[in-house]
Amino acid sequence: MARLFDPYTLKSTTLRNRIAVSPMCQYMARDGAINAWHQAHYASLARGGAGLVVVEATAVAPEGRITWGDLGLWNDAQADALRPVVAAIRDGGAVPGIQIAHAGRKASANRPWEGDDHIAEGEENAWTTIAPSPLAFGGGLGRVPREMSLDDIARVQADTVAAVVRARDVGFEWLELHMAHGYLAQNFFSPLSNHRTDAYGGSAENRARFLFETLVAVRKVWPQDRPLTVRLGVVEFDGNDAMVDDSIALLRRMKDEGLDFVDVSIGFNTPDANIPWAPNFMADTAGRVLRETGLPGTTSWYISKPDEADALVQAGKIDLVMLGRPLLADPHWPYMAAKALGVENPAWATLPPPYAHWLARYR
Ligand SMILES: Cc1cc2nc3c(=O)[nH]c(=O)nc-3n(C[C@H](O)[C@H](O)[C@H](O)COP(=O)(O)O)c2cc1C
Repeated sequence: MARLFDPYTLKSTTLRNRIAVSPMCQYMARDGAINAWHQAHYASLARGGAGLVVVEATAVAPEGRITWGDLGLWNDAQADALRPVVAAIRDGGAVPGIQIAHAGRKASANRPWEGDDHIAEGEENAWTTIAPSPLAFGGGLGRVPREMSLDDIARVQADTVAAVVRARDVGFEWLELHMAHGYLAQNFFSPLSNHRTDAYGGSAENRARFLFETLVAVRKVWPQDRPLTVRLGVVEFDGNDAMVDDSIALLRRMKDEGLDFVDVSIGFNTPDANIPWAPNFMADTAGRVLRETGLPGTTSWYISKPDEADALVQAGKIDLVMLGRPLLADPHWPYMAAKALGVENPAWATLPPPYAHWLARYR
């Protein structure tokens, strides 16, 4: 029996199945606001049958956008524009989630198809980037960020809380804080990008302070009955094996403060990583992190075959699968998976549950 189509309940949220849309920037926004593309895109993902749709990295402040085409939640107009997206995801039978982000030293980049590199200082859409230390990522992302003062740290944390309040108030039910992929939180967590000598740098606990404090502040405003999750980069593939242990220690402390679920991901904080790309290559690391923290969770990266996705859930390695490119390519991936796994009435598995139950009478 396939498990991929079992419902999944966390707090007061129930997903119709174990298939989640991984957050994926669309690079189509203007001034951080959604438009018709996002509306169609997210509605189609919900209609396609995923249980959870996590809206792309959404910046807490203008300087926290990866590119000028990113979504933002630093004002109420942006929040209001997101309401129809929330409604469309919910009407499609999926749970609306959102990823809240600050891009740190990787911000102010060109859109991927326009170079994926930093926009040169002084050019249109270039802005000053900020990070724990004045250290560039390297390669095409070579601009040196401004070192954050303690006031900057407090301001970004306050911006994060304000963005979360907006996400809460427009009805998002699942929150993912972006603490991976070489963006601001990862910049603090990693010794590669954090050379501070104050309370936010040095020991693993100090480097985790920004992440931990942010989680604690967000928990105070995010409703207790809605899942609070983080995507954490737990491994860099640069030979620093302590990072997984540091991550597990941080996640345990976060769990004590009300973290509900973890999305295990990669650091992407150095251009010199040696990443072993292969199908499901993060699954074992994710399994270890979940086992040793006692948190439920997920991972993504090259999970694309229905039987393999189902096997990861069956084995109890992860609770649900986060799919990126497979769902970008085919929002009806869940229908294909339901057919491949022999689920009864596979087409109905992709309809909003009440509709599917009613339709199931017409054999
Ligand atoms: C176009 C694109 C945009 C992405 N944007 C984000 C993002 O906004 N936030 C994030 O955490 N990861 C982002 N990712 C990573 C995905 O969420 C996902 O983890 C990754 O693509 C691996 O899953 P996959 O192999 O199923 O594609 C993006 C990936 C792609 C392909």
